[in-house]
Amino acid sequence: MKVLLATGKPFATKAVEEIQQIIESAGYLFEKLESYTDKSLLLDAVRDANALIIRSDIVDREVLEAAPNLKVVVRAGSGYDNVDLETATNRDVCVMNTPGQNANAVAELVFGMMIYMQRNQFDGSVGRELFNKRLGLYAFGNVAKMVARIARGFNMTVNAYSPTLTHDDLRKEGEYGVYTVYSNRELFMNSDFLSLHMPLLEETRNCVGYELLSLMPLDGVLINTARKELLVEDDLMRIMEERPRFKYITDVMPDSHEEFQARFPKRYFSTPKKMGAQTAEANINAGLAAAGQIVSYFRKGDEQYRVNNKT
Ligand code: 3PG
Repeated sequence: MKVLLATGKPFATKAVEEIQQIIESAGYLFEKLESYTDKSLLLDAVRDANALIIRSDIVDREVLEAAPNLKVVVRAGSGYDNVDLETATNRDVCVMNTPGQNANAVAELVFGMMIYMQRNQFDGSVGRELFNKRLGLYAFGNVAKMVARIARGFNMTVNAYSPTLTHDDLRKEGEYGVYTVYSNRELFMNSDFLSLHMPLLEETRNCVGYELLSLMPLDGVLINTARKELLVEDDLMRIMEERPRFKYITDVMPDSHEEFQARFPKRYFSTPKKMGAQTAEANINAGLAAAGQIVSYFRKGDEQYRVNNKT
């Protein structure tokens, strides 16, 4: 039984060592493919793999078809928009994620980037504080919950809207000190800072466009640590043009990164590479969970975190 760890963006060494230990203690063969840039290397490596651990690595039809013995893919992380779920189902491959394991790392980055931009990229000029401001969370999953928790320390008023939770569900989230609103319009209208936390699905693709963005205050700050495809980039560009104080902060670089950077250098910031989950702690949490889920899948048929349909 071969378990392949394929990470274009490698995990911390300690996480890899511990993943290897879990896999080998279970009696399986461990192999890793790290920092690969050419897909052909992944296609070669999966040829005899029975299980695959990935991060944002693309597992499309070609990869799945190159792996005739593959039984399980675990996305060590939350979003699984990088895996072709339909093909996986058709080939009887179980796809899982490790929800929540890297949430705190992403939430901390939200605040790191907010402070960096509200202090004008530490250029010495007069900045703004987060204290007492209104923060809107679009969706209320694991990352948003951690963001809400940290926001308390800044005495922020936190509003959340989730299209998938009822108002009653959200009311139960009171322990996070969050107020829930009935519509995304209400959320955008009442947010000095608006942070996106929904997964990329067909129904969330391009879900934030001109109309919603224009409801934000003129000096609103939009934060995206989720997926670039949630936003209509041209609409965001138009808002940034029309509103000389509006800011966009992101950990998922937009296609028009160079243009945003050139036109709005003080109001736009993108990390060079998605780094929300890039901490040793998150790597260890997500990586070890992934390894454990694989062992549990083979030993007990445990599919608790399965995200694709069965045939
Ligand atoms: C996730 O979906 O878990 C995050 O986007 C992190 O992705 P990464 O592990 O590829 O950095």
